[in-house]
Amino acid sequence: MISLLVVIVLSFLSNFAVAQTPQTFWPSGVPLLVKSPYLNAWLPTRNNSNPLPPGVWPNFWTGSRILGWAGFVRVDGANYFWLGQTGPGNATVLTNTVITPTRSIFTVQAGPLELNITFFSPIEPGDLALQSFPFAYYYIDLASTDGQSHSVQLYSDISGEWASNNDASLLQWNTISNAVAVYHQFSRSASQSMQEVNNIAEDGTMYIGMAMRPGLTWQTGTDVDLRNLFNATGTLQNQQDVRFRPISKDGKDWPVFAIAVDLGTVQTISQPVVWTIGLVRDPSVTVNEGGNMTQRSSLYWTRWPKIDDGISNFLQDFPQAQQRANNLDSKIMNQALATPNTADLVSLGLRQVMAASEITVSKMSNGTFNMSDIGIFTKDVGFSRRTNPVEVAYASLPAILYLNYSIAKFVLKPILEFHSRHLSSVSFAMSDLGSSFPVSVPVISPSEIRGVEDTGSMLIMVLAHAMYSGDGSLIAQHYPLLKKWADYLVGNVFGPAGQRTSDASGVSTGQDAVNLAIKGIIGVKAMSKISEAFNQSQDAEQYNNHTTDLFTQWRAQAFQGGHLVSSFKDPSLGGVIYNLYADKLLRLNLVDDSVYQGQAAFYQDLVAKSSGKAGIPLVTGGETGRVDWSMLAAASVNNTITRNSMITLVHDHAGNNSTQGGLGFASTFVVETGRTTGPASASLGSMFSILALDLPSQNIIIPPPASEAPNEQIASSHRGLSKGSIAGIVIGLLILLAFVVAGFLFWRRRRLTRESPGALENATFEPFSLTGPENVGRVPVFSGDSRMLTPVHPPTSTVFSSFPPSSSGDETSRRETEMLRTDVQELRREMERMRLAVEPPPEY
Ligand SMILES: *[C@@H]1O[C@H](CO)[C@@H](O)[C@H](O)[C@H]1NC(C)=O
Ligand SMILES: *[C@@H]1O[C@H](CO)[C@@H](O)[C@H](O)[C@H]1NC(C)=O
Ligand SMILES: *[C@@H]1O[C@H](CO)[C@@H](O)[C@H](O)[C@H]1NC(C)=O
Ligand SMILES: *[C@@H]1O[C@H](CO)[C@@H](O)[C@H](O)[C@H]1NC(C)=O
Ligand SMILES: *[C@@H]1O[C@H](CO)[C@@H](O)[C@H](O)[C@H]1NC(C)=O
Ligand SMILES: *[C@@H]1O[C@H](CO)[C@@H](O)[C@H](O)[C@H]1NC(C)=O
Ligand SMILES: *[C@@H]1O[C@H](CO)[C@@H](O)[C@H](O)[C@H]1NC(C)=O
Ligand SMILES: *[C@@H]1O[C@H](CO)[C@@H](O)[C@H](O)[C@H]1NC(C)=O
Ligand SMILES: *[C@@H]1O[C@H](CO)[C@@H](O)[C@H](O)[C@H]1NC(C)=O
Ligand SMILES: *[C@@H]1O[C@H](CO)[C@@H](O)[C@H](O)[C@H]1NC(C)=O
Ligand SMILES: *[C@@H]1O[C@H](CO)[C@@H](O)[C@H](O)[C@H]1NC(C)=O
Ligand SMILES: *[C@@H]1O[C@H](CO)[C@@H](O)[C@H](O)[C@H]1NC(C)=O
Repeated sequence: MISLLVVIVLSFLSNFAVAQTPQTFWPSGVPLLVKSPYLNAWLPTRNNSNPLPPGVWPNFWTGSRILGWAGFVRVDGANYFWLGQTGPGNATVLTNTVITPTRSIFTVQAGPLELNITFFSPIEPGDLALQSFPFAYYYIDLASTDGQSHSVQLYSDISGEWASNNDASLLQWNTISNAVAVYHQFSRSASQSMQEVNNIAEDGTMYIGMAMRPGLTWQTGTDVDLRNLFNATGTLQNQQDVRFRPISKDGKDWPVFAIAVDLGTVQTISQPVVWTIGLVRDPSVTVNEGGNMTQRSSLYWTRWPKIDDGISNFLQDFPQAQQRANNLDSKIMNQALATPNTADLVSLGLRQVMAASEITVSKMSNGTFNMSDIGIFTKDVGFSRRTNPVEVAYASLPAILYLNYSIAKFVLKPILEFHSRHLSSVSFAMSDLGSSFPVSVPVISPSEIRGVEDTGSMLIMVLAHAMYSGDGSLIAQHYPLLKKWADYLVGNVFGPAGQRTSDASGVSTGQDAVNLAIKGIIGVKAMSKISEAFNQSQDAEQYNNHTTDLFTQWRAQAFQGGHLVSSFKDPSLGGVIYNLYADKLLRLNLVDDSVYQGQAAFYQDLVAKSSGKAGIPLVTGGETGRVDWSMLAAASVNNTITRNSMITLVHDHAGNNSTQGGLGFASTFVVETGRTTGPASASLGSMFSILALDLPSQNIIIPPPASEAPNEQIASSHRGLSKGSIAGIVIGLLILLAFVVAGFLFWRRRRLTRESPGALENATFEPFSLTGPENVGRVPVFSGDSRMLTPVHPPTSTVFSSFPPSSSGDETSRRETEMLRTDVQELRREMERMRLAVEPPPEY
């Protein structure tokens, strides 16, 4: 009986063309076009929506910016609207909503016609350049329900509201019409580069387009005029309104950009009618490192140097894109269906995970793109403008690994490279790369308040990427940094007191210490595996020994009364120990079964106590719950009933349309009221926590360091030179480089000693100018960063355990000699490794 049901559901999913099952999942917002941090449109589907969807204005993920976007269908001269609040004619009647990982499909009835309106934001895990293309499709299939043919015209427009947060902003626009396509483009006349206001980009150029086809007409003009014209005639006049004006004046006179299609008299259509909407920005991210500005463009520019070619390609590629989406949706749904209620969650969450990021590449000084420098920059969508927030990457990792483990490399690269370049002397990982997205101004916070959290996350993510992709390149490039981080964890997992999980965690300091400590310990164990992969057996053994010690201590204090407590200090507190998930994901088997079993029983009890509430709190008795972390915790539970009941709670909350908050799937909620914060965050990638546990792991291959050839990831990886001849060149260059580097290091150490004889901690940082009284001490803040005056984290009295408070000149020079020696040894080891690596193995 059940298997029959599964077969029916599966066949439904594979072709989307079987009788509709009644809708059972009712989120308070449905993703429409969710493709980038700035192209992120949702349909409000709150129970109190007025009027009812689909006749509601779409909104930005914040829920506080209407995105004017209208849709009409005219049947035998009678007009109906299927998107947007008003218009001439009656509303269509919404009969069903289906949400898949790539699409939201609304079925509506317009008189004698049934329409399926599909909003399709492609997810392209096999092609990052395509994934970075900031366009999405929406398309309509239709059929008459009375067996008769009807005269049918379709219409859609968007308003200037998409191009700026401020309706007074002056717009300019143009329409391109050629043999391939018709598209309107518009932007602010005074585009504000790299600016956003209330999360809306002020430097975007908007597009709405359609592939050329019979019956297509277009027009730009005032909303009322064009919609009434369509209502009256079913066509537009292929004319541009050249009176450039603001988005609106006094709530009137909105210029809109419309495309309509006259289908003639039909019963059904064989191909859908397809529009596209896009939001183009270039550069998409700027990185400001100590005043050195690097502008980064979205990766698709490397394929389509002219946006017009990109748009034409996107429109022509629709059938293939739809096929790829069918395949991806079926794959995800088939696997998600194995766990009750998970399919809805992965479907609602995935688009916003991908849309929170810009996939970027930098240019070389001669203007050519540097294909060795691809990096993903994620916005802390839902909470702040932080760039590459580490805790969000950690929570999103299950989805990223699931889609394509290689993508994780580009998520981690910008963070690792920044630390290796500029913070080689700081012993812990930073929380992010600044807090003014899309401008990244990385700053090291003066406090270690999240040192264990972010350092643990980074080591866990680096190993996860390596073991699932088999790609050891990040390990090879950053081994010394990773080791330093692990050493920090060894000394700090149980303190200093006051370390915290994340800014948005909703728990007070120390309440989450058990969860935090186990993340740090798993991080140390991950380092042991990393060392093993890097053939540093001594290190591997050492970190393994540390793990054993730390875990023994942790278990003795954390496992009390048959389950894990949350706080070492207050055994009465229990909670969601979601970092146990990393033990499962990395297949470490560090934590023993009895802990998992005790914790499962405890969660079952929490679930029972949460009846009538929006979910389980992070800490018993606490106000805040997190669906992202609950989902990680659920996946760590080895008890199907408990796991499923935890997922059901998340599902019921996510599918509750009376919930208030932003429109995107939100990560955080108030346990009593269900009110949400953190909508549209990438951290909802944690909905894939169970799916990711089934991924096959691979042997980690450490590449020769010189193999980081241009185009490594995107183009074919064949290299022209044989390994042998490269070896010769490389070794020659390396010897030269070794002398240069050694000489430079020596010179630098000496110079720093002379310039700041008494302050070792200044000498250990890269020599950025540290100006301003607030930077006295050991806080490296880049000059030119306006946030210097308002640090993200409040300074605390926490002492950097890794730096001596201050030292005499003698001590300084002794330490420097030591450091120099370490550097040279490091270099020698590196050379040895490269020699081993480039020497062709026997089978060549
Ligand atoms: C809200 O969800 C309920 C089911 O819980 C459903 O009947 C109702 O139609 C939904 N409201 C909207 C506006 O979608
Ligand atoms: C829309 O068209 C209908 C039928 O042609 C007409 O009766 C109605 O007045 C029109 N509405 C507007 C606002 O033009
Ligand atoms: C529009 O709605 C009105 C009021 O419900 C109804 O009388 C009219 O027949 C509808 N028109 C069409 C074309 O469905
Ligand atoms: C994963 O991404 C990489 C890099 O973009 C690409 O080369 C590879 O083909 C992708 N793999 C799959 C299975 O899509
Ligand atoms: C709309 O989609 C449903 C499946 O969700 C299908 O049964 C129906 O035939 C489709 N209708 C049209 C007009 O394509
Ligand atoms: C800025 O770039 C210059 C030239 O590439 C380099 O010498 C300098 O160290 C860089 N400064 C920082 C803070 O990265
Ligand atoms: C720019 O420099 C790179 C590497 O130095 C080279 O491969 C490329 O051909 C150059 N491009 C142009 C346009 O000169
Ligand atoms: C290209 O990027 C890589 C990785 O960041 C960097 O090491 C290299 O110097 C860059 N090449 C050029 C020519 O800028
Ligand atoms: C690992 O290190 C050992 C000892 O240094 C060496 O004998 C062995 O060849 C190395 N293995 C690899 C795969 O590099
Ligand atoms: C690890 O622990 C074992 C057993 O206690 C000990 O023999 C070994 O020397 C330790 N290794 C390191 C590197 O500390
Ligand atoms: C659950 O525990 C049992 C017994 O310890 C083990 O065989 C099984 O693999 C575990 N399942 C999961 C999903 O971890
Ligand atoms: C939706 O609203 C209706 C009418 O206001 C109410 O009866 C119903 O309980 C609400 N449903 C939910 C899930 O809030």
